[in-house]
Amino acid sequence: MKGVLRKALKRILPGRKDGEEIKKISRRLLIEVGKFADKYGAETILAGSITRNTWMKEKKEIDIFVAFPESVKEDELGNIGLSIGRAAIKSVGGRHTVSYAQHPYVRGFVGKYQVDIVPCYKLSSADKIKSAVDRTPFHVKYIEKNMRPEQANDVRLLKQFCKAAGVYGADLKTEGFSGYICDLLIIKYGSFENAINSIAGWKAGTIITLDSRPVRQKFSSPMALIDPVDPNRNVAAAVSAKSFEALVSRADDFCKKPSEKFFFPPEEKPLGRAEFAKLRRSRDAKLIAIVFKPPKVVADILWPQLRRAAERIDHMLRENDFASMNRDVWSDGKSTGIILFEMAVHKLPNVKKRVGPPIFAHSNARNFVAHYMKNSVRRPYIEGINWVAETERKHTEAAAYLSELLKAGQKNLEETGIPSYIAASVSRGFKIAEDEKIYKSARAPGAKIFLRKFFGG
Ligand code: CTP
Ligand code: CA
Repeated sequence: MKGVLRKALKRILPGRKDGEEIKKISRRLLIEVGKFADKYGAETILAGSITRNTWMKEKKEIDIFVAFPESVKEDELGNIGLSIGRAAIKSVGGRHTVSYAQHPYVRGFVGKYQVDIVPCYKLSSADKIKSAVDRTPFHVKYIEKNMRPEQANDVRLLKQFCKAAGVYGADLKTEGFSGYICDLLIIKYGSFENAINSIAGWKAGTIITLDSRPVRQKFSSPMALIDPVDPNRNVAAAVSAKSFEALVSRADDFCKKPSEKFFFPPEEKPLGRAEFAKLRRSRDAKLIAIVFKPPKVVADILWPQLRRAAERIDHMLRENDFASMNRDVWSDGKSTGIILFEMAVHKLPNVKKRVGPPIFAHSNARNFVAHYMKNSVRRPYIEGINWVAETERKHTEAAAYLSELLKAGQKNLEETGIPSYIAASVSRGFKIAEDEKIYKSARAPGAKIFLRKFFGG
């Protein structure tokens, strides 16, 4: 394993020049932000991976936190933070946008670097925290105190291992392991080698702590990693079941047979047209895709909304006696959004059978029969001890049903539980594609990788 790790590290370690450059820019930004922050008695703090030499060479990101005294009111914090951020970015000649955490914050772009300038509160202890961002200064101190400098590269290896497994990041698309989790795991286990051995043995429900304080909380997430600066916080709250199992099984495979490929997986190949047709035919799959232009929102909003929309649509299919057996969503965030279903039941008879009350429920039975004498395709009849009626079915084809459903307009779609941005996008236009025609609609390059994964690739 040691040889493999040495080789992997060589490939992921940023160059010395990169290091000098990123530190120089960070220092300059700290000074600029500090000039403006001083006026408010705020403290400027460099946070994140730059502070601990755990940054990755392809992620050129600088995290600066501005910690305000508690005397600054919450509703002012955002605005002051924004003006400080804007001024600082401007003074170094960068451009900026506004992003959102608990408070809005400035995201600047300086050369090839992304600079987040996040306002938070300066607090005497971490249990006084008002919002998630207030914990970060405590994280910086904790890691400074507890991580040995030679452990930085172990963190980098763990980040890269997670990345290759597709589970690096606590964002809502990935639902995986954050940089801070990697920091903590290396502190806990001492080295990459020990960490990966331990991860290989993790079982769902595992609870990890970095000190001896007892844990009294119950968790519903696949794992818990108690934040050493705030015992009420599960740092791994965002880790999904899928990400958890993906990391554990990869770690297990790696420990059994270490290889560099666990850090650099082969590139995923888009599914070819013929392959797609063959796969679909071999399952005799009925596929229905809703294809539309996705809303222009950040991934942390887009992905949960896509998943929620798919869940709601699936539910409505079921309410109409259709049934899907698999579903997934995909988007490149630009040209294409796809909600894809593989159906178990996509076609239904013209007639819908309704089982009514038993003959012993006299008055209910009388009403049922009276009602369906008029509103059915044949006279009500008895099955066992129940009255039964047959009515004409409104929707007999799932694809046609979806098409009608999604034309209902934004307001109606929202009322059915479809999240607002998706409802708005779909209302501007969508396409229902079926079976082999889906391939043509999935023009965006990543979409064909998505199709491969959909079939278990
Ligand atoms: N943070 C957190 N929980 C998250 C994301 C971030 O507590 N889900 C805090 C942590 O204190 C972290 C800091 O915000 O150190 C910066 O976040 P991020 O940039 O995601 O972490 P890095 O350690 O800088 O990792 P990377 O190298 O990927 O940028
Ligand atoms: Ca960072």
